[in-house]
Amino acid sequence: MRAQVVFATITGNNEAVADDLVAHLEERGVLVEKSEISQSEPEDLANYDLAFLVPYTYDEGSLPDEGLDYFDDLADVRLDHLVYGVAGSGDTFYEDFYCLALDKFEQQMEKTGATKAADLVRINLYPSPKDKERLAHLVDQAVLKVTA
Ligand SMILES: Cc1cc2nc3c(=O)[nH]c(=O)nc-3n(C[C@H](O)[C@H](O)[C@H](O)COP(=O)(O)O)c2cc1C
Repeated sequence: MRAQVVFATITGNNEAVADDLVAHLEERGVLVEKSEISQSEPEDLANYDLAFLVPYTYDEGSLPDEGLDYFDDLADVRLDHLVYGVAGSGDTFYEDFYCLALDKFEQQMEKTGATKAADLVRINLYPSPKDKERLAHLVDQAVLKVTA
């Protein structure tokens, strides 16, 4: 089983989320590639069974600037074979805009025909031990969906 973890970060929190996902995937024997979003193309996902998208949220619910091409290009790929999860760090201070980029990426992934592993995982700032459990659960659900 092969997975790609695609992340965007400015201050490192979302890379920490990506690293947790990578660690959980490797524990389950999945071959994982971690990629920064501006260095990635949605077409690459054709080569994987599993994908995890890990964007930060900025400026009242905005997507990462460096992820806009990736986001737009998702509308043009078919990924019926793929199981995906969306997770990421925002800040509850932003209330209604909290982690809104996650919802936007989930909606975009829905258009590709890919299968959602489980509910998205919103994390306030740096992942806590409890958040790491939630990320492990997301990985477990994703692996189960691939093998189902
Ligand atoms: C100018 C600015 C705007 C932000 N806007 C939002 C927002 O709308 N929603 C949110 O959940 N977090 C918002 N954040 C918080 C970041 O998403 C949060 O700090 C996140 O952990 C950053 O991820 P990173 O460390 O991977 O860059 C904002 C932060 C800054 C500095």
